[in-house]
Amino acid sequence: MSRSGARAPGRVNLIGDHTDYTGGFVFPMAIDRETVVEGIETAEPVVRLVSASLPGEAVIPLDIDDPSSVEPPWARYVAGVVRELRPARGFSGTVRSTVPIGAGLSSSAALEVAVALALSAMSDTRSIARLCQRAEHAASGVPSGIMDQLASAAGVAGHALLIDCDTLAILPVPIPIDCEIAIVHSGLPRGLAGSAYADRVRECAEAEAIVGPLRLATIEALTEIADATVRARARHVVTENERVLLFAAALGARDLPLAGKLMSESHASLRQDYAVSTPELDALVDELVKTPGVYGARLTGAGFGGCAVALAAPGTFLPAPELGPAPSVVRAVAGATRLA
Ligand code: GLA
Repeated sequence: MSRSGARAPGRVNLIGDHTDYTGGFVFPMAIDRETVVEGIETAEPVVRLVSASLPGEAVIPLDIDDPSSVEPPWARYVAGVVRELRPARGFSGTVRSTVPIGAGLSSSAALEVAVALALSAMSDTRSIARLCQRAEHAASGVPSGIMDQLASAAGVAGHALLIDCDTLAILPVPIPIDCEIAIVHSGLPRGLAGSAYADRVRECAEAEAIVGPLRLATIEALTEIADATVRARARHVVTENERVLLFAAALGARDLPLAGKLMSESHASLRQDYAVSTPELDALVDELVKTPGVYGARLTGAGFGGCAVALAAPGTFLPAPELGPAPSVVRAVAGATRLA
């Protein structure tokens, strides 16, 4: 019986939130917090995993049909991947993770990608990401985009990824050495099932039914949208796509003040037009941008709680191994790999 395993990182999105599911631009980086799955092939027709930090055991029959009702809840993501992969053999192993759960740092994507690599011979990062996105949908019922799984699968050390979510083209952009990236938790756990995430996906579809693909729409065209709420959602997406491209260029030119300003504008747009921030996140971002050395800050990921991310001068924050009330500096790492 052969041993196998894989590691897959979480991600932080520097800018470009709620743009992936309309084929827009995002700018995440894989971070130095990861999930590791290790084990052995077995003759039993199940995937069996115990977690070092989460309760219960995942016992997933290879012919699992409905991942969404599996217990414990973290095992649903394993079940989603098993359903997509349909591995020929069983597997028994362990899960360890340093990606905080409910923080908006893609702990579920890291688990899916690590399981997919541990259980298969797949190597194409885009195929892995697509498979894991389908697994996430089946597990959670949330119609999430491709960003998290693709960032985890395709990360490049020292770089953030400019991703075109329409073509899935990826341009790695080096993180300048004269800055640091820090994340800090708002104290409010984030969960997307039951959040307004699916409403936002639907509102974007309503806007696209009127003006066509939002990735191609101009601000002027949005006046055709009569409903003020739908128009505001569309305005966020159109302006956020512009900000992502400007941010990538600013980072490339090492214009950190401009990059920071774009992050702060992104937060304002997510708060006002997209209505996915919370008072806790707003207060946190306000505090971060007032901190000497910080160029800009914003909520990261879906919102509704979770983390904020800040771009700052080196030495502004301390590296903290545990994500807590104090900002911790994160590094950009390579995407998922199989363990030797
Ligand atoms: C979650 C989803 C992603 C993306 C972000 C918001 O993390 O999983 O696909 O939509 O929210 O940018």
